[in-house]
Amino acid sequence: MKNIFEQVEKNIDDLVADGVDWAAGASKEQLQSARTGKLRLPFFDRSVPDEWIRGIWGKKVLCLAGAGGLQGPLLAAAGAEVTVFDLSEKMLDKDRETAKSENLQIKIVKGNMCDLSLFCDGCFDYIINPPSLMYVPQPRVVFRECYRVLGKGGVFIMAAPNPINYVCDYVEDGKDGYYKAVHKMPFYSRDYDDADWIEYGHTMEEYLGGLIACGFVINGYLECQMEDITELYFMTRAVKDPV
Ligand SMILES: C[S@@+](CC[C@H](N)C(=O)[O-])C[C@H]1O[C@@H](n2cnc3c(N)ncnc32)[C@H](O)[C@@H]1O
Repeated sequence: MKNIFEQVEKNIDDLVADGVDWAAGASKEQLQSARTGKLRLPFFDRSVPDEWIRGIWGKKVLCLAGAGGLQGPLLAAAGAEVTVFDLSEKMLDKDRETAKSENLQIKIVKGNMCDLSLFCDGCFDYIINPPSLMYVPQPRVVFRECYRVLGKGGVFIMAAPNPINYVCDYVEDGKDGYYKAVHKMPFYSRDYDDADWIEYGHTMEEYLGGLIACGFVINGYLECQMEDITELYFMTRAVKDPV
């Protein structure tokens, strides 16, 4: 059997080959807006608040587990010095294609976000981490690394699924169906199914408590509720040693 990260990489590569929507990348219109000073970083049907990323021009930004041709190219078009770091070569190919076709400077690195040892202490101003921590067993390992590679006053923006995504199962009852809370948190997909899909449902304590325990000060929070009401995502803005 593959180790968990090899399996996640294969799972993501397979999804990209099947045309998953979160690998669609930035549109020409989105890139043009970013170039003209109107950067909008999508968070499902919402976006990262402007004040969270104000002044990002010229800043060193790590798009952590953030390939797919969306955040990296948009941030580069807005004038940031961008490194996209991701486990999936197929996701990184999306950034390579957009960087080439749009003539954008983007550093593209393949790796596992649990180990950022190839980056020096304090070498980034911002880390943007789209939903991805559900693929690692311990978010705190990632938070520790993020804290290390950010400089003083550095900003860490992460998005993740709320535990409600994993607590409930849908029950078919021959009528409208309903959700039933059945899974105690934390959740690990392989406890219920020995299929190849690997996903972790972390508690809010692991997420918010983990950020705080690593030294971050959380100064922004928002949520995005999807049509399926058990699909709820949140996003935090956290700062290292606020000045
Ligand atoms: C849902 S996609 C998010 C990217 C997308 N740009 C977005 O806006 O949602 C999750 C990403 O996390 C990456 N990923 C998962 N586990 C990872 C790990 N351990 N290290 C680095 N990247 C990882 C996947 O390869 C994938 O590109």
